[in-house]
Parts: sequence; structure tokens; C-alpha cells
Amino acid sequence: MHMKLILSLALAIGLSACSKPVEDTRPGQPVKTRQTAFKEMLRVFEPMGTMLRTGKYHAEKFAVMAIELNAKRDAPWTHFGPDTNYPPTKAKPEVWEKSAEFEKAREGFFKSTDALLIAAQAKELKGVTDAYAKVVDDCQSCHQTFKKK
Ligand code: HEC
Repeated sequence: MHMKLILSLALAIGLSACSKPVEDTRPGQPVKTRQTAFKEMLRVFEPMGTMLRTGKYHAEKFAVMAIELNAKRDAPWTHFGPDTNYPPTKAKPEVWEKSAEFEKAREGFFKSTDALLIAAQAKELKGVTDAYAKVVDDCQSCHQTFKKK
């Protein structure tokens, strides 16, 4: 069993309880919109990990969730426009300063979620577990460089 799956996902990818909410008052609320999009992703992604961690892998349900995750993964990125680094964002300035690297991290994440979908459709626990752990790595490594705790 992967360590990553034993650790709580929130801990592994560096999510903390929300501090005092600051309202996003800009038109279109780009910060709030992208944060909500990430939370929507987490809402599918976390139960997938719970299924694996608790030994309750259900191949059909997992495959449906993998499709759902891939449908949600597109949403956050277009809301990182120039000039959207303001409270309540948790993004680091590196998102804009190292935009090529940020884009690379996003592409890596798309690859690992593609692979997770393929593994989910092959319906083998070992492959699914490895592919899930790789996606956790990609959430985590992007957060380390580009997201404040
Ligand atoms: C390419 C970089 C990148 C990848 C990959 C990534 N994230 Fe994030 N994530 C961010 C950034 C940057 C923010 C901060 C957004 C903001 O506050 O403006 C964030 C914010 C979040 C938030 C909102 C936190 C909060 O308190 O508002 C959640 C939840 C989250 N990510 C979950 C995930 C999960 C789960 C994955 C993997 C399935 C993932 N992220 C993959 C960069 C990434």
C-alpha cells in the first residue's frame, strides 16, 4: 500500500482548514471561481482515495468517478488570468512569475489523470492504486511550488 494513500489526502496535498474568509469582490470573481473549481475536483478525487484506502474498491463506481474527475479538471486554469493575484488567493506569485513551469505542472497533471482514467477502465486494483498515487503526487508537487499552505 502506498504511503500517500495512508496519509490523509488533505495532509498530503497541503490543504488546511479555511481561515477567516475574505470576499472576492472583483467582477467575475476569478479567485473564488478557481478555488471553487479546485474544491469540486477534490470532492470527486477524495472519495476515490477513501475507496482504495479502506479496501472498498468498487471498479464500476471508481471508473465513473474517474470520468467525473476528468470532466472537472479543466475548470480552474482559465481563471488564473494576469492581474488575478489578490486576496483571498492562496496562489503564490510563482504562478505568474514562472508561468511556463506552472503550465508544465498542469500538463503533467492532465497526463496523470488521463492515465488514471485508463487504469480505472482496466479495472485492476494495482494499476488503479499506482495511477491514483501518481495523481496525488502531481497535486502535491504543484501545490508545493505554486500554492500557499
Ligand atoms: C498545476 C498546479 C496545480 C495542480 C496540478 C493542482 N492544484 Fe490545487 N491549487 C493550485 C493553486 C495555485 C491553488 C490556489 C488557487 C487560489 O487560491 O487562487 C490551488 C487550490 C486548490 C484547492 C483550494 C484550496 C482552498 O483552500 O481554497 C483545492 C481543494 C485543491 N487545489 C485541490 C487540488 C487537488 C485535489 C488536486 C489534484 C487532484 C490539485 N489541487 C491539483 C494548483 C494546483
